[in-house]
Amino acid sequence: MPDTSGSDATGKDHRAALWALVDELLGRQRLILASNRGPMEFHVQPDGELQPRRGSGGVVTALSGLTNYVDFTWIASAMSEGDRRAAAEHNGLAMPSPLPGQQVSVRFVTTPRRTYHKYYNIICNPLLWFLQHYMWSSPYTPRVDAVVYDAWENGYVHVNQEFADAIVEEAGRSTLPPLVMVHDYQLYLVPQMVRAKLPNARIHQFVHIPWPASSYWELLPSMIRTTICDSLCCADIVGFQAQRDVRAFLESCDSFLDGAEIDYAAQIIRYNGRQTLVRSYPISIDVDEVQQIATSPRALEHEAKLAGALGEQTIIRVDRAEPSKNIVRGFSSYEIMLDRHPELRGKVRFLAFLVPSRTHIRQYQRYIEEIDTTVKRVNEKFGTADWQPIQIYYENNYIQAIAAMRLYDVLLVNSVIDGMNLVAKEGPVVNQKNGVLILSEAAGAHEQLKIGALPVAPADVEGTSRALYQALTMDPTERAQRATAMRTSIEAEDITACLHRQLEDISKLT
Ligand code: G6P
Repeated sequence: MPDTSGSDATGKDHRAALWALVDELLGRQRLILASNRGPMEFHVQPDGELQPRRGSGGVVTALSGLTNYVDFTWIASAMSEGDRRAAAEHNGLAMPSPLPGQQVSVRFVTTPRRTYHKYYNIICNPLLWFLQHYMWSSPYTPRVDAVVYDAWENGYVHVNQEFADAIVEEAGRSTLPPLVMVHDYQLYLVPQMVRAKLPNARIHQFVHIPWPASSYWELLPSMIRTTICDSLCCADIVGFQAQRDVRAFLESCDSFLDGAEIDYAAQIIRYNGRQTLVRSYPISIDVDEVQQIATSPRALEHEAKLAGALGEQTIIRVDRAEPSKNIVRGFSSYEIMLDRHPELRGKVRFLAFLVPSRTHIRQYQRYIEEIDTTVKRVNEKFGTADWQPIQIYYENNYIQAIAAMRLYDVLLVNSVIDGMNLVAKEGPVVNQKNGVLILSEAAGAHEQLKIGALPVAPADVEGTSRALYQALTMDPTERAQRATAMRTSIEAEDITACLHRQLEDISKLT
């Protein structure tokens, strides 16, 4: 393992530099950020009151530091009934976040439910998310039929246009020129739509998920893939998680955009008289914030409760209940290990913290059923009156999940493919047991964390079961070395370093 002990750069060093740059940059530009899911969402309580909660998902986790520091406008979809009500109460305009510490103003984009359904449940997730995570494997899927064409035109394009209109309106409220930061695959068409109205805006788009090879994109009608690439080339900078994604995007534009000039060495696309820089900015977590949450009174309460559920050793996973996270293969690997090592039965428990996600989508419902069937099988096969091998916590409870991560002996992250995977970064900075991280080689986080993690190929259930055994029987010195190497690296390269790099590139444009 490489020695990282000499590294003296820390997240704290990056923080001061980041805030100086933010102050300088936002003194001359008005920041408007757009993502489908916002930094907070409203839940309707039984008494009818609206309760604000922190939004979930990688985008919010990555940007939460910024919301604590800078005052800007974040435009997001009204996803819940509570969001729709809150938006109506503010006449569709921006409202200050009621969450402590969040300085940000949130403006919800409200679209008719039917339109939103087409956008989110037909295009964004079953189509784009599945494609970009290489999850189209059977001869029957995908099926791009008239329903998809309709959802594209009357869902995806429509919601993207609503976002673009809201951005343009917000930009008009300031005398400063706009800096528009657009996040992720739900909003690929926004750069082109904003550029049409604000030709001089600085536009930065960050894609949080993998960008597959152009031959895979060719499963989609040219109309869709070309429109997406065309629009992204209206941004000044397109950011990805990893170099593999940068390369694949450059190649896609080369294949799909007539007349695009691609400079692979400089990672620049020249198209329609514009220039777009394509860069990788591996995202990370706000280490200080995550560590504070882990030792907060609420987290410690959860930790005390969870103590009763632990085995002599405990494997933990924390994921959205999501096919790309490969949860079923993770349980199968554990089953293989218990089959082969009877001495571990009754001793090693597997606690899975699964966050309900995209529950209106058929593929997600089926996946939950598959998880349930697998867990039932393993628990019936090995369970006894006083020991159940697997326990599922199926709820959106970020603080509980962070509390659990203090306690693992092994953290399993075996995604089919992942843009980054922030759980793999949260675990090592809060864990108290020098726990071992088992990490998919196809997760973006693997690039950085291979210094300490045990690698697994996502389809390799045999290899994953061996990695579980290796992790559970690893000697304490090696565990400590691996855990320290990962923690040091994550602390040195936390979200502030990543944001700093992005803002530095933006600042060079102006
Ligand atoms: C991933 C995506 C995000 C998304 C999150 C949660 O992290 O990159 O864009 O917000 O999943 O997904 P959801 O559909 O629940 O917003």
